[in-house]
Amino acid sequence: MADKDKSPEGTTTKEKLKFSDKTMAEFETLVTRYPERRAALLPTLRLIEREFGNISDDGMVLAAELIGVSPAYVMGVVTFYTHYLRPSDGKYVIELCRTLPCALRGADKLADHACKKLGLALGETSEDRKFTIKSVECIAACGYGPAMQLNGTYHEHLTFEKFDEIVDGLE
Ligand code: FES
Repeated sequence: MADKDKSPEGTTTKEKLKFSDKTMAEFETLVTRYPERRAALLPTLRLIEREFGNISDDGMVLAAELIGVSPAYVMGVVTFYTHYLRPSDGKYVIELCRTLPCALRGADKLADHACKKLGLALGETSEDRKFTIKSVECIAACGYGPAMQLNGTYHEHLTFEKFDEIVDGLE
């Protein structure tokens, strides 16, 4: 490690996360579309996710600085929503809808089946970091339940067999 990476006390310091020029320009345009800066937090988090692959603690600090709120405020938002990718997530993130319309179509049983197949509980990531499985609120596919998103792609009218086929088809 280079000396410049160490603080005077000898502890390690890190470069702060920074947007690329292109993303920064996108951010600057984005904030003009909102009546106040903090209203642009959710799409700003999407930019961070896209630029860095997920939203880490450093990503939350970056969002806080850009938006002008505290990192604690950003953390409250990131942890409220289930759809932001976190560093602890696996390669494939399965988000099973648990809200009433999907529940009436068997979402609970599907979740049990999915967990059993993957050997995980809801909210867990496999040791090999291949899968994360989450239970989430409505993903706006209510007429096609039970539904899930797999890395952002919708899968609807799920059955146990269909779920297995999708998962078995992943590398
Ligand atoms: S209730 Fe499942 S997608 Fe809306």
